[in-house]
Amino acid sequence: MTTAKSGGAGRVLVAGGYGAVGATVTARLGEWFPGRVLPAGRDGARARSLGGVRADVADPHEFRRLLADMGDVTAVVLCVEPPDAGITRICLEQGIHVVDVGATPRVLEAAGALHEVALGTGATAVLSVGVAPGLTNLLARRAHEAVGGAARLDVTVLLGSGARHGTDAVRWTVAGLAEQVPAGARRTGLPGYGVRTAHPFPFSDQHTLRRTLGIPEATTRLCLDSRTLTALLFALRRTGALRAAHRPGLARLLTAAFGRVHLGGDGFALRADAHRGDAHAALALTGSEQSHVTGLVAAYTTRELLTAGLPAGVHHVEQLPPLAGLPERLAGDGVRVWTRGRR
Ligand SMILES: NC(=O)c1ccc[n+]([C@@H]2O[C@H](COP(=O)([O-])OP(=O)(O)OC[C@H]3O[C@@H](n4cnc5c(N)ncnc54)[C@H](OP(=O)(O)O)[C@@H]3O)[C@@H](O)[C@H]2O)c1
Repeated sequence: MTTAKSGGAGRVLVAGGYGAVGATVTARLGEWFPGRVLPAGRDGARARSLGGVRADVADPHEFRRLLADMGDVTAVVLCVEPPDAGITRICLEQGIHVVDVGATPRVLEAAGALHEVALGTGATAVLSVGVAPGLTNLLARRAHEAVGGAARLDVTVLLGSGARHGTDAVRWTVAGLAEQVPAGARRTGLPGYGVRTAHPFPFSDQHTLRRTLGIPEATTRLCLDSRTLTALLFALRRTGALRAAHRPGLARLLTAAFGRVHLGGDGFALRADAHRGDAHAALALTGSEQSHVTGLVAAYTTRELLTAGLPAGVHHVEQLPPLAGLPERLAGDGVRVWTRGRR
């Protein structure tokens, strides 16, 4: 039986390692583990110019061969979403740890089902790593605990429409706009942004948190820092005009169009509201450059995994107590946590 490769000396492969999120992961891990970090992507020349390798997460056979050829990869950080959980399975079967910033519920659910595989080799996969999912999951856990177990959870995500979001992240957002969502909009106060109307959006955390924390009702909503753009986007969604956005041609067109919109700033804000009877607890967090902060969360998580170790198995970030303090660890990078009283 393969057993997990020790974090001591092996290398770390960062898939998507020169993208908006991955570049931060590569840079930060490179400072902490010099000479052991390999940025990877489909552009072999670009990857090699950065000291990395060519890799395609949509081609599991090639990926398996790559890992076998390298032989000393201890951890893979997924900074690009594979089409399914095949890459995570390949890693875990070989005892290679995985840190995944992915945000698609279907893929995360499939990865979650690999818990026994990971236990078999002693490897660890950490899912829901980033801002949303990621920091939202951690805030939600704190709010949930503050009310003694939430009956209802509302998560709000405000994103800066002027920030440089990577193509893969914009593609994910466009896909989300095509999805039907049953819950209604909600008005919420966000530090530095006033009261905003946020609209239900298919972030993965709302699905995960129902399962990992046992919260019966959880909804995550999205707004942009530009009120105009938020109103426009969700009015368009209401007309049904964006339902066809899952078609590849239109998805590419919308991804390119949204990628060019830079109307607001680069700040972001998150808030988690937990309710249980009369009790209510709210926590918020603010920062800037969500891609960069997502990369930092992934880098800190990987460092914890390689140095202190995390339990074997597949876990979402909020299930791992050593990662509970991540929001505060990011204070030096401009992230600030806000706590509101509880009743
Ligand atoms: N959890 C969170 O809060 C959070 C926040 C932001 C983003 N994300 C997720 O992070 C991922 C990356 O977002 P991003 O903004 O960094 O996107 P990005 O700037 O487009 O970066 C994606 C990178 O992956 C590479 N890539 C694309 N397809 C690939 C494939 N099949 N195999 C290997 N590499 C591939 C790209 O380079 P090549 O084209 O040269 O291959 C690029 O370097 C997305 O999946 C997004 O959903 C999560």
